[in-house]
Amino acid sequence: MTPQPQYKTTKIKGSQDHFWAYGVNIVKPNHEAVDDIKSAGFEPECFGSKVWQSNFLLMDLLSKLSLKRSLNVLEIGAGWGALSVFLSKHFNAQVIASDLDKNVKPFQQMLAKRNQASVGSQTIRINQITEQKLDHIDLIVASDICYDQQTKNELQILVEQVACRSDTVMLLADIGRKAFFKLSQDSNNLIDVDVNPHSIKQPMALDGYILSVNNIQELVC
Ligand SMILES: C[S@@+](CC[C@H](N)C(=O)[O-])C[C@H]1O[C@@H](n2cnc3c(N)ncnc32)[C@H](O)[C@@H]1O
Repeated sequence: MTPQPQYKTTKIKGSQDHFWAYGVNIVKPNHEAVDDIKSAGFEPECFGSKVWQSNFLLMDLLSKLSLKRSLNVLEIGAGWGALSVFLSKHFNAQVIASDLDKNVKPFQQMLAKRNQASVGSQTIRINQITEQKLDHIDLIVASDICYDQQTKNELQILVEQVACRSDTVMLLADIGRKAFFKLSQDSNNLIDVDVNPHSIKQPMALDGYILSVNNIQELVC
């Protein structure tokens, strides 16, 4: 068996204004690069004010897989796009970080540049993702974006859309919010949808869940 690479991970807690998670260098909200972007007039409008914790559940899962190189990836509700950076940096994926909030784009580009990663940024909401837009997408990733009735409803439609496809995999991580459990419950009748608990110890101790649509093994070498 090929040994998996060990990516640098440090604890989030502490006085430093940045930390490492699975080989990605992540700035905290008090970092001067964040202040600079905000001073230039970009204020996240919809919770995109930091890198949220469920990112690390997916990074942990993906870091244990030998993913194919150069996959086409769409991150939805990307915020600062940490997952996009992770996939570009370690798997040379062609990544688009998308979000309904146009103000998160500079944060995505700052994080990408800091990590020598290449990430495209797109302003689009989940319910604008058409079949046609999914045509060349191998993998959709998302973390902490199912938090109310509206996001649940938009994600439900996307989950059903992806479950009808044989060529796209979707992974959605969450800490177990009510809306996420409702989405999981309402997707229970779909054969290719699974929800599994996932826990990590670094960069913080966290117990959460990963909802998958179609089998990620399809994207493994
Ligand atoms: C809690 S933040 C999570 C950000 C990022 N995924 C992370 O884990 O760091 C939720 C993000 O989802 C975005 N968002 C909320 N509703 C959305 C929708 N309907 N379509 C696209 N993005 C949405 C917000 O703008 C925000 O950036």
